[in-house]
Amino acid sequence: MRIAGISGSIRDDSYNSMLLKHIKEHYSNYFDLEIIKIDKLPLFNQAEELDPPEVVKTFKNQIAEYDGVLISTPEYNWSVPGVLKNSLDWLSRGERPMIGKPVMVVGASISLMGTIRAQMDLRRILSAPGISANVLPPAQSEVLITQAHEKFDENGKLTDKATLEVVERAVKNFNEMLKVGQRV
Ligand SMILES: Cc1cc2nc3c(=O)[nH]c(=O)nc-3n(C[C@H](O)[C@H](O)[C@H](O)COP(=O)(O)O)c2cc1C
Repeated sequence: MRIAGISGSIRDDSYNSMLLKHIKEHYSNYFDLEIIKIDKLPLFNQAEELDPPEVVKTFKNQIAEYDGVLISTPEYNWSVPGVLKNSLDWLSRGERPMIGKPVMVVGASISLMGTIRAQMDLRRILSAPGISANVLPPAQSEVLITQAHEKFDENGKLTDKATLEVVERAVKNFNEMLKVGQRV
């Protein structure tokens, strides 16, 4: 199975991108996680939604081909970063590849709140009619990495034992969800 990994942070040293990389490297027995960049998407423009720029068309076509999407989001001002919301707005109009798509939400922040507010907002956004993703419930997938600077080492490796276990449980549950989706 092929899964698209989207990081809500576009900076080079992003903990959320490191988390996606960790999952890609450690769980290739479950799925191929391919990181899809959203930094080149233009700002959403409703006037272009039915005939978007090529880079947007490519992005939407890519997402349509994946068996699922894994989103790792930071928290910016108590919500999701604009760059992530922008990508979801493009996905929600015209061709709508997220409808029914299995999605897992995770996140990392340097604060003590671990993206809880961003993830709650993200789950709400993913439920909007134009997106309507099939999101793994929090009870099965809650990965809220607090104080991320203490959980990853200087090489960007996730080293915190408790966090490793939480991530493993969530990824296993996501894999189960994907398998059920395949059988339907
Ligand atoms: C514009 C901005 C707003 C932020 N707002 C919050 C916030 O509301 N809550 C929080 O926990 N962290 C907040 N942070 C800190 C981020 O969680 C932290 O920078 C995190 O490492 C970003 O994710 P990344 O490492 O994947 O880039 C904010 C950071 C920025 C740049």
